[in-house]
Amino acid sequence: MVNTSAVQDTQVLEPEHEATFEGRLSEVLSAYSGNESELIPILQKVQQVFGYVPEFAIKEIAKFLHLSEVNVFGVATFYAQFKLVPTGRNIVRVCRGTACHVRGGARILREVEKQLGIKPGESTPDLEYALETVACIGACALAPTMVVNSDTYGQMTTKKVSEALNRGDQGE
Ligand code: FES
Repeated sequence: MVNTSAVQDTQVLEPEHEATFEGRLSEVLSAYSGNESELIPILQKVQQVFGYVPEFAIKEIAKFLHLSEVNVFGVATFYAQFKLVPTGRNIVRVCRGTACHVRGGARILREVEKQLGIKPGESTPDLEYALETVACIGACALAPTMVVNSDTYGQMTTKKVSEALNRGDQGE
C-alpha cells in the first residue's frame, strides 16, 4: 500500500517555498536575453527545474519577455508537454489498449488506483507517484502491462502491482 487522496488541481505553492522558488526562477531567467522567441525554451527549462510550470513563474516569464500573462498561459496550456500542477516523481502508466483490456488491464488499473489512492491524471500528495493511462505501450504480447518510470512490467496480476510500484520508487 502506498498513499491516499489526490493532489487537487487547485493546489497552490506553500508561501515559504515561494522565496526559494523565486530565486531559482531568477537564475533560470538570467540565462536568457528577454526576447519573446525564448518563451518555449524558458518554459521547458522552468519545467525541468521545478518539475512543472508554477503560476508565479508564468507571471515572471510574462514580465521578463514583455508579454501578457494570458499569452504565456495560453502557450503553456497549448502544449501537452507543459504541466501546470506538481506531478509525482515516479510516473506510473497503466495500459488501456485492447490487448491489455481483454487480458484484465482494467483490474490492474483498479489495483493501482487503490494502492496509490489516486485516479489517472492525479499525483499522490507527497508527489511520489503520478498515475496515467496509455493507449498501448507496444508490448501487447506481454499484456496486461504497466510501466513505472522506464521499467515495463508484463503479464501483470493484481498481486504484482505492489512489487512494481515499490521497485519504481527505489529505481529513481
Ligand atoms: S495494448 Fe497494452 S501493450 Fe499494447
